[in-house]
Amino acid sequence: MFREIKNGKLYFDGCDMTEIAKEYGTPLYVFSENDIVSRFEDLKRDFSDKYGNCRVAYAAKAFCTKGMLKIVEKCGASVDVVSGGEIAVAKAAGFPADRIEFNGNNKLPAEIDMAVEYGIKRFILDGVKELPLIEEACKKNDTKVNVVVRITPGVPASTHDHIITGKLDSKFGIPMEDDVLYPVIKAVIDSPYTEFTGLHMHIGSQLFTNEEYIKSLEVMLDCATEIKKRYDVAVRELNMGGGFGVTYIDEERKPYSFFLDPLMERIISWAEELKIERPVVAVEPGRSMIAEAGITLYTVGQIKNIKNVRKYVSVDGGMGDNIRVALYDAEYTGVVANKAEEPCTEKVTICGKCCESGDLIARDIMVPASIEAGDILVIFSTGAYGYAMASNYNNNPVPGAVLLKDGKAAWLIKPQTYEQIMENQVIPEWI
Ligand code: LLP
Repeated sequence: MFREIKNGKLYFDGCDMTEIAKEYGTPLYVFSENDIVSRFEDLKRDFSDKYGNCRVAYAAKAFCTKGMLKIVEKCGASVDVVSGGEIAVAKAAGFPADRIEFNGNNKLPAEIDMAVEYGIKRFILDGVKELPLIEEACKKNDTKVNVVVRITPGVPASTHDHIITGKLDSKFGIPMEDDVLYPVIKAVIDSPYTEFTGLHMHIGSQLFTNEEYIKSLEVMLDCATEIKKRYDVAVRELNMGGGFGVTYIDEERKPYSFFLDPLMERIISWAEELKIERPVVAVEPGRSMIAEAGITLYTVGQIKNIKNVRKYVSVDGGMGDNIRVALYDAEYTGVVANKAEEPCTEKVTICGKCCESGDLIARDIMVPASIEAGDILVIFSTGAYGYAMASNYNNNPVPGAVLLKDGKAAWLIKPQTYEQIMENQVIPEWI
């Protein structure tokens, strides 16, 4: 946590948020490099260094920019991408291809070509139709890639329905049915273009319990045992996906060890029982690396007090920079940066400026009664899936992002301009 209150004002990674708002304008995403790096260090300490033979691949979907991927590279982690766009950003950032893994339930032929051409060597296979596309691309490029097969363990995670992925009724992964899963694995083993490397699962996002992880791991280990028995092929890698929960309001963030120690213990004992080498264990955290490292700064505008109903405080951003409230009923909290020490006695709802009633940023949050136009409102924990899911609804530009470190600040993403919004628009000549 790199937030502090000094002289009545909110500071983040050594910078005064009211000053940052003045200098860079609002709405503005703000990220703390120290906070991001500390998450990678936590994982290194509690996972990769502790157990060895482990890999952390940051799930780029949570927040993918050139600067962010440079930080990930510096932290020694790999990156998990899911689209040509994310590969393009990784390429532009000079992210080493051998540390990129390619996930996704419907990788397009052009994306697979792009990945193989760039030298990406690890594909998380998410369906039988993908294999010939990978083979084709490998043939063209005279290469071979590692393939990790994503299974659907059939265990529902306890989280928002939209972000559960591991239950049976899912578009992700390959179901555990004998005549569906094993032929795919056999085809990967037999292909001259692919090296069968292991198994992958991702059961859901924003998780705080690990029973589902453990149950899913059992399914995965049974499958690995079966692969050894049927084909005499070792599963050399087990990928647990991401999903570690973060604090938005008052959720108690669990240390990585809470999730990973029981999984590692079980994997170690399984390998001992089978008298095989322990596979590499990989994780793919997105949200937990970046959510709390990012905040959003807004300027307060119109305030409407509907007597005995609700007080709406409008800000200069909205669902264009944070769709999560409209999409998942996500909850946030925040602070008025220039009144950070004033008691919060007034319950208000923070709304955006988009033409939609669901355009809310935070329902029923407590703020100082003196809140007024011109105040700088900061919403916490917006670093993951905020910018990543931003849109141009109402032709509002996507805000920029600033990176902070020990009191210094610099652009990470410049704010979008009106010209950029219109860049690809064409008026057909017959109009
Ligand atoms: N690996 C795979 C295969 C995934 O599908 C995901 C997330 C992750 C890793 C990273 O999960 P995380 O550590 O971030 O929980 N837009 C939603 C979240 C969608 C997550 C999709 N997959 C949200 O704003 O809550």
